[in-house]
Amino acid sequence: MGAQIAVPAPLRNSALLGLGVHRPERIVTNDEICEQIDSSDEWIQSRSGIKERRFAKQHPEESVVDMATSAAEQALAAAGLTGAQIDTVVVATSTYPFQTPQAAALVADRIGTGGAAALDIAAGCAGFCYALGVASDLVRAGSAEHVLVVGVERMSDTTEPTDRSVRFIFGDGAGAVVVGPSDEVGIGPTVWGSDGSQANAIRQEPDWVDFANNPDQKRPWIIMEGTAVFRWAAFEMSKYARQIADKAGVALEDLDAFVPHQANLRINDVIVKQLELPETVAVADDIIETGNTSAASIPLAMEKMLRTGQVETGSTALLLAFGAGLSYAGQVVKMPPLAK
Ligand code: UT7
Repeated sequence: MGAQIAVPAPLRNSALLGLGVHRPERIVTNDEICEQIDSSDEWIQSRSGIKERRFAKQHPEESVVDMATSAAEQALAAAGLTGAQIDTVVVATSTYPFQTPQAAALVADRIGTGGAAALDIAAGCAGFCYALGVASDLVRAGSAEHVLVVGVERMSDTTEPTDRSVRFIFGDGAGAVVVGPSDEVGIGPTVWGSDGSQANAIRQEPDWVDFANNPDQKRPWIIMEGTAVFRWAAFEMSKYARQIADKAGVALEDLDAFVPHQANLRINDVIVKQLELPETVAVADDIIETGNTSAASIPLAMEKMLRTGQVETGSTALLLAFGAGLSYAGQVVKMPPLAK
């Protein structure tokens, strides 16, 4: 009864040790999307900023687990670690087509962790920053040493090809980071939350059991009430961006980069205006070539900024993800290295 429970040493710092991505080879232009929806390249570009996106190969090739593994291998190379040094794998996804077992266990096996703890997180487009918050706190508390965090989606499987309210927005891909202990603070506190009263704004319809019981109806697809999501994102997110910066003790004007979820270039323009970010803060714009890859969008956008020289390893960036739930999450980080 009087036994003392041991806890690990006091909190330590966490950081992003490496970043890797998987971009499917197949580029899908707006014109190709418009073969199946009543829209135009001009409309899509002016309303969303998107010029093209990538779609993974047809199921079961280039699966969620394949893409996650490919991004994870790049992240490990960037961090100079082997799979055996990863003790926890967290996969953020809303498009893994199996309810069990979780994708993270397969990824952990494929990269050779030798039995890492493995869990999936579903928080829609906010998933990567949710997973990063969990990983960072596991490392800080000493519950994990090196955590692999992956954001991965095959949105092409879950959006109806003829639905013009969603089909042009989404794309496929994966991004991964390794989170580990560090002398310097590399990941600030997480700000996160949700508003389930607006859960209908991005939803799946019908549910799979309903569909199995009534196979005459349409199969489940993602439905989005775009304008409601647009309003929520454009007018609530600046408040959370300020909270993220405040909690990290970083002034917005001292940031090197702002990496908002890549949902719509116009949403991000509104957020940037509300934050009055100076021109010295580079703003991610990966959506133009990548579309909205949901939980994969933040690491893919970070990779583009590093690859194109918009920011350097060690730069200070504010990450802010938002989407289904409606949920949001973010933190200030030091940008990680890419593989050489
Ligand atoms: O990642 C998860 C979070 N998701 C988001 O953050 C997405 C947020 N929402 C959006 O990005 C935007 O709402 C969309 C890009 C999806 C749509 O843009 P919008 O400016 O909100 O368009 P709207 O739905 O208000 O529709 C405007 C007009 C309508 O026509 P009328 O009523 O003005 O004549 C629509 O019927 O555009 C029409 N429309 C289209 N026209 C051509 C709607 N979709 C299309 C389309 N092509 N694909």
